[in-house]
Amino acid sequence: MKMHKNVRISLKKLSLPTPIKKYFSSQNWDMDLGSNTNPFGGDFSNYPDVMQLDLKKLYLKRILSLNPPPTFEVVVDENNVLFTAGSMEGIDLLLRAFPDPNQDLVCIPTPTFSAYAHWSIINELRVKKIPLLGKNLDQVDIESIIKLNPKLLFICNPNNPVGTLISHATLKKLCQSLSGFIIIDEAYIEFSDQHSSLFYLNEYPNLIILRTFSKGWGLAGVRCGAIIAHKTIIDTLRYIQYPFSVSIPSQQAVREILTAPEKVFETWKKIEKMRRSLYSELSQKRNVIKVFESQTNFLMLALHNFEEVMRNLKQEKIHVLDCSSELLQSIRVSIGTEEQNQKFLEIISG
Ligand SMILES: Cc1ncc(COP(=O)(O)O)c(C=O)c1O
Repeated sequence: MKMHKNVRISLKKLSLPTPIKKYFSSQNWDMDLGSNTNPFGGDFSNYPDVMQLDLKKLYLKRILSLNPPPTFEVVVDENNVLFTAGSMEGIDLLLRAFPDPNQDLVCIPTPTFSAYAHWSIINELRVKKIPLLGKNLDQVDIESIIKLNPKLLFICNPNNPVGTLISHATLKKLCQSLSGFIIIDEAYIEFSDQHSSLFYLNEYPNLIILRTFSKGWGLAGVRCGAIIAHKTIIDTLRYIQYPFSVSIPSQQAVREILTAPEKVFETWKKIEKMRRSLYSELSQKRNVIKVFESQTNFLMLALHNFEEVMRNLKQEKIHVLDCSSELLQSIRVSIGTEEQNQKFLEIISG
């Protein structure tokens, strides 16, 4: 299995981890006496399936049918998918696989999900944050990024914590102009009107999509995410990923939701309606400076009485994300149940 040419220099000669080598060889077996597991154990006594071919097929079938563009050609198959222990593992895997420590640059348009910078630093990479522009913080400073020529560029779309979308035109321009990888984190795509960048994966060999089951799919506790990319990228990550990182119970839970997704689809509609309603109520509050129009299951807002609201939320034991280091006097709040949203509105009203 070939590695991508842009893999970290120190990894070029790595072989596949021993426990998974046999799955990628031509060898076939009915009896596994090579894994030292307990033959008298129960349902979980064997290691999980590492290929997950049926699950990947089912996953692709579902996500390709969700909000597709008017015309598209199916260009992805099981070879383009790697399941991970949440998309956090996906982020870390990409940082460990491609950029060289103390040398390569990771560009991150901000404000955005803090994990990209956090794990870049852990991986001893150079990080350059590029402020997002425009009154809705949805414009990427393309020229500055091109000049910096990063090895990796992380774009969260729709963006956390702002909730807004980056246009397809911008994303395509970045893919065309950069020689490094463009990682589009679509953790919240299920809540958005915009179709996934997955549909133009065939056009750009440097495009990588990150997905998760933690948000729209309602399975944060299961810890499953996915990387969708060109085959050589996925193959390379197999050399680096812990051999059995997606457990049997995780695979079972994911299979269940993908087999009968109707209920979860209903929740997406419900959350969208609740987000619209919370947005319009918050926009009318005199203490609210601005609410960002969101395409996710959360809202970011700036407040006149930020300190007072934070104090009151703490008193009521309600946690929201303090975003004041990114944008003055701002917080990010998830769309909760009707009662939770109501309680939050009461506190904002003062
Ligand atoms: C943009 C974004 N990406 C990834 C993640 C992590 O997701 P997971 O639970 O799959 O690790 C989060 C979680 O908050 C997120 O907001």
